[in-house]
Amino acid sequence: MASLPAEAPIGVFDSGVGGLTVFREIHRALPGESLIYLGDSARVPYGTKSPQTVVRYSLEAANHLMQRGIKMLVVACNTATAAALPTLQETLPIPVIGVVEPGARAAIAKTRGRVGVIATEGTVKSHAYRKAIHTLDPNVEVLECAAPLFVPLAEEGWANTHVAREVAEVYLEPLIDAGVDTLVLGCTHYPILRGTIEKVVGDSMAIVDSAETTAAWVKSIVGDSARGEAEHHFLVTDAEERFRKIAAEFLSRDIESLELVSL
Ligand code: DGL
Repeated sequence: MASLPAEAPIGVFDSGVGGLTVFREIHRALPGESLIYLGDSARVPYGTKSPQTVVRYSLEAANHLMQRGIKMLVVACNTATAAALPTLQETLPIPVIGVVEPGARAAIAKTRGRVGVIATEGTVKSHAYRKAIHTLDPNVEVLECAAPLFVPLAEEGWANTHVAREVAEVYLEPLIDAGVDTLVLGCTHYPILRGTIEKVVGDSMAIVDSAETTAAWVKSIVGDSARGEAEHHFLVTDAEERFRKIAAEFLSRDIESLELVSL
């Protein structure tokens, strides 16, 4: 592949704050790269929408980021990856990667044979994880469960409350009872609740968050080519002050460059 323009930013998008979990790992892996993050906060959640709607939203987000001169797109949303990755890859003239395949690879590396996947309704219905895991190893058992309430809990900044803990118990007990040994956080919002999830599952399962493996994949594509000062720019489609607060808490830094956009 021809080398990518060193100074152009990498675009990262999600329905809201969830993709920040991926953004953080890309920044850790590639501190010299400029990044533009787009959270479609006006239309979150994507997980309850039809695949057709998620494809339309994803194309709109991608086109907006293309106008900002990105050299690569990371779809930091499992729901959008499951519904729209092939369309985005066919439509955009730049490399586009999603988060499902890196999550599946990380699960295969850890499991002893029984994987649980918690994700949005859209991702669960698509069976994107089951398909990706079975492509790598058809003998692994995959149990997929929707955990939609984790998304508003993360968006509200309620990840570490007793409410989140009770919701986690309801969602996770069937997977604990089923003897799952590895749990995939199949929605990029869920790592924000990782501490709460870990308290509920204890050491009964290994936890997989695809952010790290996705970041390693990004690095393998862009290389270590960045020069100059890395810039981070954040775009949201609504409620920028709410985003600023949650993003600042999650990334442990001030969010200075934040812009409200319409897609
Ligand atoms: N963070 C997204 C995902 O990874 C979607 C959450 C939502 O908007 O429902 O699936």
